[in-house]
Amino acid sequence: MNDLIVSSPSETAKQIVGCEPAVLQRILDKSCNLAVWKRSKTIDCSSLLNIDLENVRVRVPSGNPEKLLQRELDRCGFPKSVARACLAEDIMDLCQLFGEMIPHPKIEVRIELVTGNSCWKFHSDYVEMRLITTYIGRGTQWVDQNDTDRIADGLEPLHINELEPGDVGLFKGKLKTNQPVIHRSPPIEGTGEKRLLLVLNPAEG
Ligand SMILES: [Fe+2]
Repeated sequence: MNDLIVSSPSETAKQIVGCEPAVLQRILDKSCNLAVWKRSKTIDCSSLLNIDLENVRVRVPSGNPEKLLQRELDRCGFPKSVARACLAEDIMDLCQLFGEMIPHPKIEVRIELVTGNSCWKFHSDYVEMRLITTYIGRGTQWVDQNDTDRIADGLEPLHINELEPGDVGLFKGKLKTNQPVIHRSPPIEGTGEKRLLLVLNPAEG
């Protein structure tokens, strides 16, 4: 499939969706504020939902994340298992991809089990760029560029897009563009749904 430009009025930011990892490179285009790699395969981490895990938050070198990531997974109670191994391997692959896009030598890795509404209001992030994927549960929601003005005016968007489990999104924030992508966490409070979320942020030294 060719990459799909979801929103393309002239002089507005574009969101680009594709089925190959190379689509993520499009975030480096000045006019692109969201690049989505749609992945057909997901990792089965469901066994991790039954365990009392702490949220992961660790800074790792983008070129060599394994040692510090594994140490943090140990600290947070992730049991040695196939699910953990697959998760760690995927995170390391994504660190490598993300590290090629940012000028910082380190990446902040966050893994959170979300059961509430989290950041449920539409907003943009105060970052240069952020990688988000959801291994379990509904993914981050985002709006087309023509709905950005409606949200600024306090109106509901006409259409809400949502990442599927496994999809990888590179979200450009306020520190990189004056048209950051507007997004939110899906509101799941009270539904009993759980989300296992990975966020990668650029980190200083
Ligand atoms: Fe956000």
